[in-house]
Order: sequence, then C-alpha cells, then structure tokens
Amino acid sequence: MAQQTPMAKSESTSDTVTLVDNATGKRFELPVLGGSEGPRVIDIRSLYGETGMFTYDPGFTSTASCDSQITFIDGDDGILRHRGYPIEDLAENCDFLEVAHMLLFGELPDRATYEKFAHDITYHTMVHEQLLYFYRGFRRDAHPMAIMVGVVGALSAFYHDSTDISDPHQCMVASYRLIAKMPTIAAMAFKYPMGQPFMYPRNDLSYAENFLYMTFAVPAEEYHISPVLARAMERILILHADHEQNASTSTVRLAGSSAANPFACIAAGIASLWGPAHGGANEAVLDMLTEIGSKDQIGEFINRAKDKDDPFRLMGFGHRVYKNYDPRAAVLRKSAHEVLDELGVKDEPLLELALELERIALEDDYFVEKKLFPNVDFYSGIILRAMGFPNSMFTVLFALARTVGWVAQWNEMIQDPTQRIGRPRQLYTGETKRDFVPMDQR
Ligand code: SDX
Repeated sequence: MAQQTPMAKSESTSDTVTLVDNATGKRFELPVLGGSEGPRVIDIRSLYGETGMFTYDPGFTSTASCDSQITFIDGDDGILRHRGYPIEDLAENCDFLEVAHMLLFGELPDRATYEKFAHDITYHTMVHEQLLYFYRGFRRDAHPMAIMVGVVGALSAFYHDSTDISDPHQCMVASYRLIAKMPTIAAMAFKYPMGQPFMYPRNDLSYAENFLYMTFAVPAEEYHISPVLARAMERILILHADHEQNASTSTVRLAGSSAANPFACIAAGIASLWGPAHGGANEAVLDMLTEIGSKDQIGEFINRAKDKDDPFRLMGFGHRVYKNYDPRAAVLRKSAHEVLDELGVKDEPLLELALELERIALEDDYFVEKKLFPNVDFYSGIILRAMGFPNSMFTVLFALARTVGWVAQWNEMIQDPTQRIGRPRQLYTGETKRDFVPMDQR
C-alpha cells in the first residue's frame, strides 16, 4: 500500500535578480527558480542572512510557500489542472477515486490499479465503534462543521497505530483511513443533529453512492440510490478535491511541518476551510440568495457589495488567484441545470436569482475592474440543496472532497527531504523596551 507520491522539484535557472539596498548602496544577487509552468520565483532563502531584512507579504499574495507537482492554476486564464489534466476533462470522464488516486500517486490508474485502490479504500470506510459515543457528546443542534472539526481531530485517539509520520507505511494507512472514513464521518455529522440512526457503510457501493446511502437512507426502508445524484456527487467531489496552496491546504502543510500526526493536520484544515471567506462561502451564498429574495432586490445588494463602508461582500464572487471565471464554477453552472432538470426541479427560484445576480454583477464596472467572477462556491450550494442537503452540510461536503487534496499535499510535504518546520517572521510595530512599573504605581 505504501506507494510514494512523486517528488516535487524546482529547477534552478541561471537567472538572478539584483536587489539594491538604496540606504547602503549594497547589491544582493538572488537566484531565480523556474517550474514546469507558471510564474518563476525569486529564491529568498538567503535573504535574511545576507541583508538582515525579511520580506513582507501578509496574506501571501506574492509568496510561493513550497514547490508542488499536484495542481496548477493560471488565474488570469481560468485554468485548473491536476497532475496536468484539465479539471473539465476530469469532471467529465472520471469518478472521484480515479482522481483521488492521481492526486495521491501522480497518475490516473489503469483498471487493475483502480480496482485495488477502490477495494482498499472501501475496506477502510467503517469507523471505530467507540467513535459513535464521541458524537453523543455534542448537542443535537451542533453545526455539522463543528462536529467534523472535533471528530477528525479525535481520530488520532482512535487510530494511534497510524500516527508515526517517520513510517511511510503508517502515513499511507492514515491517508487511506482519512479518505475512506471522511464520508462516513460526514454522513454521521448529518444524521446526528437530526436524531436519525447512523447508517453503516456498504462495501457493494461506490464512494459517492456509499455517501448518499449513509446520508439519506434509514433502517426502516430500502433506499434507492439515484444514478443522477451519484453522478452529480462524483462530479462535485472532483471539482472540490484540490486547489494548490489555498488557506486550508496551507494550514495542513504548516501543521504538518511540525511533524504533527495526519489526523490533527486534516482537522486543522477543516477548521480553516469553515471560514466564510473560504469553504464556508457555499453556505453563505445560499444565505445571501435567500436574503436577497427576489431579482428586484439585487441592485441593493450589488451596491452594498461595492460600498467600502459596508462589510457585505457578494459571497461566491472573487478569488485570490482567479481573475477570470473559476473553471469549476463553469462546470457547476452547467451541472446545476442538468441536476435540477434530472431531479425534476422546475424553475428553482434561487438558481434563477443566482443567474440574474451573476449577469448584473458581470456587467457592473466595479466587478469588471476588480475582476470579480463567480467562484466554485457560487453554484455548488444550489445543486447540493436540490440534492437534499441542508445549507449547514455544504462546507462538510467541501471538506469531504478536499480531504484527498489535503492528504496528497501533506504526503508531498513529508516526503520532501528538504522540508523544514514552517516558521514565518514579522514586522514588529509594538512598544520598544520600557521599564517595568509595579501595579501600585500604575
Ligand atoms: C474558496 O484560495 C483558494 O483556492 C480557495 C478556493 C479553494 O478551492 O480552496 O478556491 C475556495 O475559498 C473560494 C472563495 C470563496 N469565498 C467567497 O466567495 C467570499 C467572498 N470573496 C471574498 O471574500 C474575496 O474575494 C476572497 C476572500 C475570495 C479573496 O480575497 P482577496 O484575494 O484577499 O481579495 P481582496 O479581499 O483583497 O479583494 C480585492 C478587492 C477588494 O477591494 P479593494 O480593497 O481593492 O477596493 O475586491 C473586493 C475587495 O473589497 N472584493 C469584493 C469581493 N471580493 C473581493 N467586493 C465585493 N464582493 C466580493 N465578493
């Protein structure tokens, strides 16, 4: 099982950049590194030692934190590729475990490899029976994402035999366990607040079918798995699987850089993803569309989004990297119509509202100038709602899908022999040294 993920490697180039400190006139030559495509990077690892200065880049807008071979994004052209394959081709032709294998090991599997991988994942889908009692500690009105953060963080207490990151076999076992058990844990996070009994996974179902079964089936009757829903679920999972060094993936890498166990690292990623500026935006989009209510209210909300004094932002719009249409949003926009049609949902008002909101925003100078386009979160919630998920489960599904990306990026990092603990510095702007004053003299 302990296959290796391909090693990331940057190419040193003969290029350099020269930095001139105008205060002293000193010049510093810094090497420029090139990858297989995308922006070159200035290697600043020697900068502090040579100049006594740090770089300053809050939010890491211009900073490459690592080199990686997993995902490439071209934000200007709206390109997303995993291991070189365009996301559109993967969403159209693959199932989730095919993509998961490729993200983890670098290649789309042949039939025999796929069957073996799917079997191994399937036979890790059950969770330790004691975990059921862990759920019972939550209030019934707990948000499913709060449950996910808690339960995944607790996994290292249940699977301690796969937490030693110096053992490649244990790393792979933990990777398979996380990918395999996340649907089970997510479905349980859906069932628990409802007071419905947990459904055990079935080994005769595919990854997406199993998740739908554990989520929507009840012991009292047969559950018919809709091929339409299963196909839509596979596609949604693929579209959310990985996305380069986004906030939650960077959280997983930073946590993993301290040699924390993989379950703790993925729990940290789930916590970061929950934010409405990140994966929590899909739930926020539906809340926003519900608040807008009707097309004649769109103008007011567009104006609020443009008002610097109003904290309101158009949820599901804008992206740190994409300054063009998010290719995932394009696939989801197309799927929304297909899924709603195939589910027999006629004229879903929220979809009509979303399409009109997109039309108006993309004709507005503010959004055009700032290159704010719909992102992956804009349409996903509408599809998930039509599939029967409550808004509170949308980010749980994002976390379910993104687990394979987090696990692939974590493996790539821990297998890199040059990897070091992540420890950024700062620009200190606080008080300089001052004398202590005893309390009775303050
Ligand atoms: C995801 O990184 C990834 O890859 C993430 C993700 C993934 O797959 O992992 O793609 C998933 O997180 C998608 C993004 C989901 N979030 C939202 O939809 C929330 C709404 N969007 C924004 O909060 C914002 O666009 C971010 C957080 C997504 C990006 O923020 P940035 O890159 O820091 O950009 P910014 O906040 O500096 O915005 C630039 C300008 C600002 O105006 P100025 O200060 O320059 O005048 O654009 C404005 C912002 O005010 N702006 C918006 C806006 N997004 C940015 N104005 C109104 N509505 C918005 N949605």
